[in-house]
Amino acid sequence: MASKLAIFGGEPAIPSNTFYPWPPITEVDEQYVLASLRGANHAFGPNCVAFEQEFAAWNGNTFAITTNSGTAALHMCVAACNCSEGDEVIVTAYSWSSSATCILHHNCIPVFVDIDWETMNIDIDKIEAAISPKTKAIIVVHLHGLAVDMAKVLDLAHKHGLKVIEDACQAHGAKFNGKKVGTLGDCAAFSFNQNKNLCSGEGGMFVTDDEGIAATARMLWSFGETRSPVEVRDYHAYALGWMYRNNDLTAAFGRAQLTRLDTYLAWQSHNAQELTRNLQGLTNVILPTVPEGHEHNWYNYVLRFDMDALGHSADASLFRHKIVRALKAEGLETAVWQSFILPKMTVFQAKNAYGYGTPWSSPHARAVDYSVEQYPVAQKHSDTHTCLVFSQRYPNPTGTVELVAAAIWKVMDHIEQLEMLPAA
Ligand SMILES: Cc1ncc(COP(=O)(O)O)c(C=O)c1O
Repeated sequence: MASKLAIFGGEPAIPSNTFYPWPPITEVDEQYVLASLRGANHAFGPNCVAFEQEFAAWNGNTFAITTNSGTAALHMCVAACNCSEGDEVIVTAYSWSSSATCILHHNCIPVFVDIDWETMNIDIDKIEAAISPKTKAIIVVHLHGLAVDMAKVLDLAHKHGLKVIEDACQAHGAKFNGKKVGTLGDCAAFSFNQNKNLCSGEGGMFVTDDEGIAATARMLWSFGETRSPVEVRDYHAYALGWMYRNNDLTAAFGRAQLTRLDTYLAWQSHNAQELTRNLQGLTNVILPTVPEGHEHNWYNYVLRFDMDALGHSADASLFRHKIVRALKAEGLETAVWQSFILPKMTVFQAKNAYGYGTPWSSPHARAVDYSVEQYPVAQKHSDTHTCLVFSQRYPNPTGTVELVAAAIWKVMDHIEQLEMLPAA
C-alpha cells in the first residue's frame, strides 16, 4: 500500500466509479411507476392502498397508513398517543431533528436523554430520571438500524403508564429478540426518503396494531376526516388535521422497491460483517457492535475515532473532519451525520416554536432545561464519528468492502500526515 495519502497527492485507495448508485433501479420499478402514471388516480390511489397492505404484511402490523414523509408519520404517532399541549415526550439527545420536532408539531415538550456510547441509542438507564408527572410518551429511535432494548423500555413505560413510539425511520427490518421494529411499541414511523433502505424518493408509513390509535392517526393524516380517500367521504373535519397522505406514483415506486427489500437487507448485513472482519486490529477506530438479541439492519455503519489516543480530545471534531477529508481523497465518501446534538439546535435552545415562546410558555407546560452539559456522551459521539452510508449496500460486492477497508487502514496507518493538513 502506497504510503502517501491521496489528500497529499498519493494514489487513491479506491478507483473512481467503484460504488453503485442508490437505490438500484430495475424494470420492475419502471413497470410499477409507469402503470401508475398511465392510471387514473395520481393522488391517494390504488398503489397507496396496496403499499399499505404489502408493507403491513412485510412488517407484521395490523394497520399501516402511508404518508408523504417519515416526519408526518412521527407527528401522527405523537397525536395518536393522545399527547396534548404541554405534555412531555422523552426522546434521545442524538438523532435527526424531526425525531424531536414532531413533538413540537403537537405543542408538546421534548425532554432529552443522553445516549449510551456502545449502542448510540437513548441511554435506557437515564430514562426514568427524565419522567415527570407531565410525561405522556417515550420516542425510541432505532438509530442507524440498531433497535433500542425494547424489553427495558416497555417495562418502564408499563410502570409509569406511558406510550412508546418507535422512530423506525432508519431501521426497516431491524429486530429485537426476533421481532421487527415497528411491532414493539404502541405505534411507529418509517421513512422512505432517498437514503433509506426502502426508498421511494420521499414518503413514509405509520404503523400500529391498535385500532383506536390507527383511527386517531388517520384523522390527523387527512384534513381531520375519519375516512380515507378510497372510502365514501363526508368531507367533514372532525378534528384538526394536516395533509400527510402519500401519492400514487411514489407509492408505486415504494411497492417496487419493497419486492427487493429483503435482498437489500441480507446483502448489506453480509457486507457490514465483512467490513468488520476486514477492520479487525485497526487501532484508534471504534467499530460498531451489536448487542445480544439484536439484528442490525446496517443502514449506517458508524466509525468513531479514539481522539484521546490520537491526542486530539481538545479539537476532536476538527481532527475528525481532517480524517473525513482524507478518506474522501482516497475515494471513500463518508458522512458526519449530525454535527449538532438535538438539544443544541437553535429550535430547542430558543424555546420559541410558534411565537410567544410556545409551546414552552403554555400554562400546561412545566419548565424544562436544555443545557447541553447534560448530554456529554451524545456530544462526544457527535464530535468523533463518521458514517458509511452507501458502500455496504446492494449490489456493491465484497470486493468493494475490501477496498473500503483498505482506504480506512491506509488513512489510519498514516494518520500522522494529517497533523500537517490545514483546517478546511
Ligand atoms: C431517525 C430519523 N427520524 C426521522 C426522519 C425523518 O424522515 P423523513 O425525512 O422521511 O421525514 C429521518 C430521516 O430523514 C430519520 O433518519
